[in-house]
Amino acid sequence: MELTVVGTGYVGLVAGTCFAETGHTVTCIDNNPDKIAMLERGEIPIYEPGLEEMVKRNVKKKRLFFSTDLPTAIAKTEVAFIAVGTPEGEDGSADLSHVLGVARDIGRALTRPIVVVDKSTVPVGTGERVKAEIAKVTSIPVEIVSNPEFLKEGAALEDFLKPDRIVIGTESEHAKAVMTDLYAPFNRTSNRTVFMDVRSAEMTKYAANAMLATRISFMNEIANLCERVGADVNKVRAGIGSDPRIGPSFLFPGVGFGGSCFPKDIRALMRTGDEYGLPLQVLRTVDEVNDRQKTLMLDKVVKAFGEDLRGKNVAVWGLAFKPQTDDMREAPAITIIEGLVARGAAVRASDPEALKTARRIIGDKIRYDDDPYAALEGADALVLVTEWNEFRRPNFKRMKELMRGVHIFDGRNVWEPDTMRKMGFTYTGIGRP
Ligand SMILES: NC(=O)c1ccc[n+]([C@@H]2O[C@H](COP(=O)([O-])OP(=O)(O)OC[C@H]3O[C@@H](n4cnc5c(N)ncnc54)[C@H](O)[C@@H]3O)[C@@H](O)[C@H]2O)c1
Repeated sequence: MELTVVGTGYVGLVAGTCFAETGHTVTCIDNNPDKIAMLERGEIPIYEPGLEEMVKRNVKKKRLFFSTDLPTAIAKTEVAFIAVGTPEGEDGSADLSHVLGVARDIGRALTRPIVVVDKSTVPVGTGERVKAEIAKVTSIPVEIVSNPEFLKEGAALEDFLKPDRIVIGTESEHAKAVMTDLYAPFNRTSNRTVFMDVRSAEMTKYAANAMLATRISFMNEIANLCERVGADVNKVRAGIGSDPRIGPSFLFPGVGFGGSCFPKDIRALMRTGDEYGLPLQVLRTVDEVNDRQKTLMLDKVVKAFGEDLRGKNVAVWGLAFKPQTDDMREAPAITIIEGLVARGAAVRASDPEALKTARRIIGDKIRYDDDPYAALEGADALVLVTEWNEFRRPNFKRMKELMRGVHIFDGRNVWEPDTMRKMGFTYTGIGRP
């Protein structure tokens, strides 16, 4: 099939590349000419394990193309995916200007009926709005599908190629058949497709992210209480995770959730609740608890050194909102670093992939080190923010020698308190005695 994916970000680039990998001819469109120029030079604008090789392979085989020219791609396409951003608007709702703008562009470029698939995360009712936008500029009919994306950054290829579920919301039998065919290569072991109407598919994506965000905030509150009462959240986590009704995933306490999805998606869902006269109280609390959790490690640093951090050197390990990505949208590291800098601390930070992003977001207020050990030179404290694998078993002896202080703030509970203390560190984790 000839496919077009509009929006060549984390979702569009991965989806387009994976469809090309199964043999389709895919044109990935973006309105950012720099991004398209990079991709045409063979450079991948994001860090995602395995993506670069797959992109290069499919470009070489002439199955994957990059362009800013939407009309030419749409004129020959059978299916158009919308995978542009839906950032948080001023009132918390999802900003649909990109999605609806693309819908109009697709409408203007249509030469025959096609299937239009919305992959962006959009509020219930957007499918109908996309159809209406297209109908404003053309009389050529389209079939609308909501096909929300569940990939996780850092494991995006794996998730796309071996999905837990494929949600397809459509009222059209033809579109259903087209989507079934498109996803068949990723659906061979057992059929994981869940068909539904467009509105339910749109809601499914928000409900999934809201549930996951709720688990995180819930466990963060339990961890904070463990700390007060002298319990160990790691043991509590194992104790509750073994219950099949609860399950072991997503029960790790930490520095709060960030990223391009959870924060904006729970706020957009809350906004939908407000619009329909049903305020979502659980989510409101989830969001508040998360905001508090993002400053938790900062509070712990202040507790150890006092409010005035002038003259203190603090190293930060991990800047991306989670490991295996360079994405720092709403990353807790930003909140922590800004708090440290505002109190006068000199911060040196290291991250295996996100230093370029960090320089753009945080600027020259702090120093950046490719080598995490360099960031420790003369440090009074280390704050571990993102649990990259290489930080899990570092050379503690070397760390000790490089640092001038002994304070370790472990925002992900990756190190053992007893071991750390035996080595002479003053260790502070989350929810552990
Ligand atoms: N990132 C994730 O892990 C993830 C996972 C599931 C769902 N989603 C959802 O998928 C959507 C896309 O997310 P993302 O992280 O890939 O976003 P992104 O910001 O990485 O990429 C969006 C791309 O769309 C392009 N774009 C914007 N307007 C355009 C237009 N009018 N024409 C052409 N291109 C345009 C931008 O230049 C950008 O390259 C969002 O709705 C998001 O919530 C994201």
